[in-house]
Amino acid sequence: MTVVAAETRKQIIELAREFAAEHVVPHALRWDEEKALPVQVLRSLGELGFFGMLIPEDWDGLGLDTETYLLALEEIAAADGSVAIAMGVHNSLPTQMLLRWGSEAQKEKWLRPMARGELLGAFALSEPDSGSDAASLRCQASRASDGGWVLDGTKAWVTNGALADVVIAMARTDQPGDRKGARGISAFIVPRDTPGYLPGKPEDKMGLRASNTVAVTFEQLHLPPDALLGEEGRGFSYALSALDGGRLGVAAQACGIARSALQHAVRYATERRQFERPIAEFQAVQFKLADMATQLAAARSLLLEAARRRDAGEDVTLYASMAKLFASDMVMRVTSDAVQIFGGYGYMRDYPVEKLMRDAKVISIYEGTDEIQRVVIARQLLTHS
Ligand code: CAA
Repeated sequence: MTVVAAETRKQIIELAREFAAEHVVPHALRWDEEKALPVQVLRSLGELGFFGMLIPEDWDGLGLDTETYLLALEEIAAADGSVAIAMGVHNSLPTQMLLRWGSEAQKEKWLRPMARGELLGAFALSEPDSGSDAASLRCQASRASDGGWVLDGTKAWVTNGALADVVIAMARTDQPGDRKGARGISAFIVPRDTPGYLPGKPEDKMGLRASNTVAVTFEQLHLPPDALLGEEGRGFSYALSALDGGRLGVAAQACGIARSALQHAVRYATERRQFERPIAEFQAVQFKLADMATQLAAARSLLLEAARRRDAGEDVTLYASMAKLFASDMVMRVTSDAVQIFGGYGYMRDYPVEKLMRDAKVISIYEGTDEIQRVVIARQLLTHS
């Protein structure tokens, strides 16, 4: 991947910050209340090129490097975690899978418009009975008489699932009685307007309430032969490989949320007076702020280390899991400390830090729980040492 010039990186980050300040920050609390994002905000991000950040210019993307993308994503996440995950999933998962394993025709049909932000993407791996043990998924893809495929099964917690134009879904292509484990899973390009694509109602979540999260049932969903992405039986490996990038995006989201919490806490501490002085004059508050800033800087450093390694062409399975694991713990602590500094007001919905703490929790769960990140890290250490 070509590393972009420092000036370009600065401009992209500035653009993300300006967009967030104007189009996201003023509305984020209301979107959280309403439990929905206006599609227009995603369209506008798409028009800026932010849905094709990691896609080469040849395919109508911005052709940016990982570091620039993650820093821009952090800017969006600092304004609203829900917008960030919609953008992060699209950029890290379906588009990257199409870029890496799609045929020229598939890229022409799907990747190009996705890079331009005309089509929104989603990724469907988890199922009601397969979360951490993702390879135990049961959604079945059977051969149709015309050489195509028929999908049956239910996918769970699909970000953008009811909004996306196209979903990359993992399904079993091995048959009952001849199961092949992870090698029996393939990846499919599923247009949302296919008959039999049935999204559930938006999940009622603790945090990231505006982000669209739904179960999607595939009921006798018929796909043409060219819906298979890459090789039959390789879909699980493709999905996990894409999740390395997804986990970096989630770590960037954590940095954005934590940064916002820290900024709110610093401002509040200087304004709020108790015992006839601003609470920022108390060392108990100062130490909390110092720890929050240090944890955030450490998480961002690890994230950027991972990004630079990826941009240098290294495999980042280990670093992506480490960056996400560290960031998930960091963002929970930082947002909880921000609520603590706000005291009673911090617990109220009228103040922003309550939302940030709710938004933070899922970071230790989705795109692989903290426990799974530890499994991945340990496996990497034990197999590569
Ligand atoms: N890159 C490429 N290939 C990989 C890989 C990676 N990072 N990790 C594993 N693979 C390959 C392996 O090499 C193996 O391939 P072969 O068949 O060629 O040998 C295959 O995938 C199976 O690997 P494992 O034997 O390691 O698989 P496992 O069953 O032991 O599972 C796991 C490993 C780490 C537990 C994995 O299941 C996992 O990461 N689970 C968590 C799933 C997850 O993150 N889900 C989040 C879904 S997305 C989401 O949260 C919703 C959203 O929209 C935001």
